[in-house]
Amino acid sequence: MLQRGLKNVVAAETSISLVDGENGQLIYKGYDVKELVLNYSFEEITYLLWYGYLPNKEEQHQFSVLLKNNRSLPSYVYQVIEALPNDMDMMSQIRTAVSAFGGKEFTWKPNIEQAIRLTAAIPSITAMIYRKINGEETVPPHLELNHVENYLYMLTGKVPSIKHAKALEAYMILTMEHGMNASTFTARVVSSTESDMVSAVTGAIGAMKGPLHGGAPTGVIDMLNEIKEKENTERWIRRKLENKEYLMGFGHRVYKTRDPRAEVLSTICQRIGQDDPWLHLAGYVEKIAIQLLEEYKPGRKLYTNVEFYAAAVMKAIDMPPELFTPTFTVSRMVGWTAHVIEQSIDNTIFRPEAKYIGNQPEIIN
Ligand SMILES: CC(C)(COP(=O)(O)OP(=O)(O)OC[C@H]1O[C@@H](n2cnc3c(N)ncnc32)[C@H](O)[C@@H]1OP(=O)(O)O)[C@@H](O)C(=O)NCCC(=O)NCCS
Repeated sequence: MLQRGLKNVVAAETSISLVDGENGQLIYKGYDVKELVLNYSFEEITYLLWYGYLPNKEEQHQFSVLLKNNRSLPSYVYQVIEALPNDMDMMSQIRTAVSAFGGKEFTWKPNIEQAIRLTAAIPSITAMIYRKINGEETVPPHLELNHVENYLYMLTGKVPSIKHAKALEAYMILTMEHGMNASTFTARVVSSTESDMVSAVTGAIGAMKGPLHGGAPTGVIDMLNEIKEKENTERWIRRKLENKEYLMGFGHRVYKTRDPRAEVLSTICQRIGQDDPWLHLAGYVEKIAIQLLEEYKPGRKLYTNVEFYAAAVMKAIDMPPELFTPTFTVSRMVGWTAHVIEQSIDNTIFRPEAKYIGNQPEIIN
């Protein structure tokens, strides 16, 4: 039977993550992500997804050194980036630069060394492209800083505040992996042909670029900018819902309760922005929106999704909207590479059927 979009079709077995929509839980390798994000670093959780367990102090140290040592880009990747026109959108430039990686060390089978190379390089690629588009010199990696701090440093040329780095780190941990989403599925399909890891993640970046997937939380920012003051909230939302428009940052295909990632990010927002009027407004809009969604769409179980609070965090740390999807790509590289390795362990090439609805050949007498 045809299942459009493979909705509800189980396409693979995985031990990397569980997205439990009914209970609003996201589990990475047996750990609730809400616990992980409050207690472990981006590097430790990356280690968990690739090796299957949390590192001890020594393993963590060695792993961080490996990631740091792979931040610099090969000179030919620099040249490829330099050659790209500035009017090419950022995601296309990132996809092209990542696909320039290659050579013997990326041949089948995929392994953790390859995953380290790509995960360490993607913040450098993104920052270099962003600065080039804005006519600014490349900032070399800062070896004293961790993965997320260094990403912010290479984007801005300034060592970030701990508050900003911690908030972005939480966002990047919460978005590094999310089951069989479109880009992860793409990566696994490419890898299932025994193609290389670079080809798999290049395909994944292509999928991430589409607005139905990596569509950035800019819609939420527009909504909050339009509402502007608390007292406008109810009128603004009622108007949208009466016009049958969707509220950005609400509803989810899988989660039928508050998206757990939104929950953690809202806690982070409270920590970083107690005095930020914009974040106060976000909290208020969320409360009223949930009430009104229940009034206009009873029983549909529409709650806040990750994009709502991702927007709030991004705005609080002054991340420009054109970097939202690229930043999501920087974090999701961890999940893609974990899936590519998992796919290779017990591989079967993906080859579904299609139902032919075209013409049959005419019978010529
Ligand atoms: C995420 C999303 C695509 C999930 O879609 P879905 O599970 O296929 O749900 P549907 O689009 O079928 O909607 C089911 C019902 O809820 C309503 N609904 C869903 N999301 C809504 C929203 N954000 N605002 C208002 N109504 C919404 C639909 O109108 C529909 O109502 P109906 O039963 O009267 O027709 C959808 O909720 C959405 O577009 N949200 C806004 C965009 C967004 O925040 N995307 C980021 C997702 S992480």
